[in-house]
Amino acid sequence: MSVLVTGGAGYIGSHTVIQLLENNKNVVIVDNFSNSNPIVLDRVKQITNKDFKFYEIDTTNQDELEIVFKENKIDSVIHFAAYKAVGESVAKPLEYYTNNIVNTLSVLNLMKKYDVKKFVFSSSATVYGDPHTCPITEDFPLSTTNPYGATKLMIEDMLRDIAKADSTFNIAILRYFNPVGAHSSGLIGEDPNDIPNNLMPYVSQVAVGKLKELNVFGNDYNTPDGTGVRDYIHVVDLANGHLKALDKLDTNCGLITYNLGTGNGYSVLDMVNAFSEASKREVAYKIVDRRPGDVAMCYADPTKANKELGWEAKYGIQEMCEDAWRWQSNNPNGYKQVIESL
Ligand code: NAD
Ligand code: WQD
Repeated sequence: MSVLVTGGAGYIGSHTVIQLLENNKNVVIVDNFSNSNPIVLDRVKQITNKDFKFYEIDTTNQDELEIVFKENKIDSVIHFAAYKAVGESVAKPLEYYTNNIVNTLSVLNLMKKYDVKKFVFSSSATVYGDPHTCPITEDFPLSTTNPYGATKLMIEDMLRDIAKADSTFNIAILRYFNPVGAHSSGLIGEDPNDIPNNLMPYVSQVAVGKLKELNVFGNDYNTPDGTGVRDYIHVVDLANGHLKALDKLDTNCGLITYNLGTGNGYSVLDMVNAFSEASKREVAYKIVDRRPGDVAMCYADPTKANKELGWEAKYGIQEMCEDAWRWQSNNPNGYKQVIESL
């Protein structure tokens, strides 16, 4: 029996595949490399010394994806494949709705056809919209402010309907907070295509000298130092949450929903300072206007996942920054550099 990992060549997917392989699971990856690089797959093999099956398929194409279900005994699906850039989703809503919704429908329809009953979904803290207070528990009201977030909430709603209609279908909705860091080998990590939108990849590119300075989006929020506060979580901890969720789905639990965060909020300047320390480089920054759509504070109450999954984030911001720096300094141009040197 195999775990199908859609988007398994991506940032969170590749870290999760490593843990699946290390736990002796058979893994089948499907990815179309729309936001990743084939080199990742070699690196995953190098790290684990284990093999897996791979299909280069666009998961919106149900006919092609069916080949994977025909050729393998799929027992569960972890569904990472999606477009994920908030700003881009505002500019290209149709592409986001098509990719994120259609690909999920095609996976779910095939699961129904092939009687696969375990599904783990990558949701996001973005479904809490502008939370009225922090820390955020799973029962907070849900809303979204952009098409990307809307796709996550629509899929969550779909999953709740599916679970209501079929009590044998086991679904884990995992709401990630802010994933950062990299595998400790320094061989895989986050590799944004253009100028990064997210804080930590931007900070690492300033530290390595690729970008001049960080724009800090506002220092007049109602937070301890005025800059935005978030719950940064090490990607390796996040990956581990998926294995714990799969174990839970084995107990025929129906639909479960968990926050995956550390429960700690750090400001932009906390992260800049931690990264400076880890990299021993100065991270130049200047304060600019707030970024439209940003909230002041967003951090999780992870108690439910701690108790029910037996999962807990182990790594703090020091490890997050050290590991991100190892990846960034060993691979200043991400995976592109590897291809150019071949
Ligand atoms: P990523 O872009 O690195 O990985 C997504 C992978 O899916 C990429 O390898 C991409 O090539 C692939 N993909 C996209 N559309 C596809 C399609 N139609 N067919 C086949 N492959 C396709 O992103 P990530 O950071 O690893 O995120 C994984 C999941 O977690 C996404 O669903 C994302 O929305 C969600 N998420 C991410 C964050 C974050 O900040 N990184 C936070 C919350 C939730
Ligand atoms: C973090 C903090 C910024 C960049 C996004 C998505 C969310 C989820 C995770 C997918 C904020 C500040 C940032 C910069 C800055 N993704 N910042 N200068 O916005 O919390 O969450 O990624 O599901 O849905 O919205 O993450 O890393 O962009 O920002 O000052 O150049 O850093 O204002 O306070 P965010 P982020």
